[in-house]
Amino acid sequence: MQLLHLDSSIQGDTSVTRLLSAAVVERYRQHVGAVAVDYRDLAATPLPHITLPRFGTEAAEAVLAEFVAADILVLGAPMYNFGIPSQLKSWFDHILVAGKTFRYGAGGVEGLAAAKKAVVVLSRGGVYSEGPAAAMEHAETHLRAMLGFIGIDRPQFIVAEGVAMGDEPRRAAIDAALAAVAQVEDASEPAVA
Ligand SMILES: Cc1cc2nc3c(=O)[nH]c(=O)nc-3n(C[C@H](O)[C@H](O)[C@H](O)COP(=O)(O)O)c2cc1C
Repeated sequence: MQLLHLDSSIQGDTSVTRLLSAAVVERYRQHVGAVAVDYRDLAATPLPHITLPRFGTEAAEAVLAEFVAADILVLGAPMYNFGIPSQLKSWFDHILVAGKTFRYGAGGVEGLAAAKKAVVVLSRGGVYSEGPAAAMEHAETHLRAMLGFIGIDRPQFIVAEGVAMGDEPRRAAIDAALAAVAQVEDASEPAVA
C-alpha cells in the first residue's frame, strides 16, 4: 500500500494541518501495517509554477508518477486568502494532466484516478461552514472540484475551523479534528465525507 503525504503549510511547528496530516498518516500506519509513505513538503521545497515548457519534463513527470503510484493521498491543506496555498495549487497543476489523470470521452470528462483514496485535512482561521463567510470558502470547494475531476469523488475531509478566533476555539477545533481522525476505523477505507 503506497501512501503519498503532502504538506503545504508555511506555519512550521505551529501548523494545524501538519499536525493533523501526521495524525492521519499515523492512523494508516496503525491500521495498514505495510504502508510505504512518500512525503513531499510543498512549502519547504516548492514546485515551480507549471509552464508549457515544463510539461513533460523529467521533473514534472516525476511529480505525476509519484501521484500515479499512490493508493492513498493524505493532503494537508491550509486556507490562505480564501483558497489553497499557491504551492499546493502548483502541485495540482502538475498532476491534473489530460491523458494521465483524466480524459475527455464521448460522455464528457472521465477521471482516471478513481481507485485512489484521499483524506484531506483542512484548517481555516475563521468559520466558513455556516454564516456570512460561507460564500467565501474557496479551499474545500476547489479541492473537491479538482479531486472529483480526476475521479476521486469521495474524498474524506477533516476540517478544523475557527483556529484564529482565540485559544479556546482553536483548541476545540483541533481536538474535534483529531477525534475525527481517530474515528476512522479502517483507515484504508476512509468514510465518505
Ligand atoms: C498567509 C495566510 C493567509 C490566511 N488566510 C486566511 C483566510 O483567508 N481565511 C481564514 O479564515 N484564515 C486564513 N488564515 C489562517 C489560516 O487558515 C489558519 O492559520 C490555518 O490554521 C492554516 O493552516 P496551517 O495552520 O496548517 O498553516 C491565513 C493564514 C495565513 C498564514
